[in-house]
Amino acid sequence: MTNAVLYIHLGLGLVLLGLLAAGRVRQYRGAAVLSGVLLALTGAFNFMTRMKGAPAGWHALIGIKILLALHVITMVVLLARGTAPAEKAARWRKGALVSAVVTVLIGLYYSNIAR
Ligand code: HEM
Repeated sequence: MTNAVLYIHLGLGLVLLGLLAAGRVRQYRGAAVLSGVLLALTGAFNFMTRMKGAPAGWHALIGIKILLALHVITMVVLLARGTAPAEKAARWRKGALVSAVVTVLIGLYYSNIAR
């Protein structure tokens, strides 16, 4: 169960990253917002189940990952609304993309390398 949720979380993370990279959040806003909501739920589950026996630095870096992930999800919701001027939306997308890449890297590091 724990691994299944982790893989679902990974899949959802890649969907969101892909939509941001392709600049398609507005076009596929249903999928984008649903991925964001499910990422928060599966992420909370991962947080509770993977805390036990966590390697050194896990709490600090996962804390940063959660803050970055909340930034990504917030920007995705705002981009999906589509009310911002194009210039501002482009800036938001770039910022969210950078946060999403760092979020994915921290997640992959702790689930594949650090333990
Ligand atoms: C934009 C949103 C997010 C993205 C792109 C993302 C991405 C990822 C990725 C790629 C992994 C590695 C999965 C694997 O190797 O199978 C991961 C693991 C994890 N994520 Fe997320 N995540 C997001 C949101 C969240 C949130 C909101 C939380 C917590 C509330 C969270 C908590 C975790 C935890 C605890 C792990 C496991 C780390 C470990 O193995 O020790 N994530 N995440």
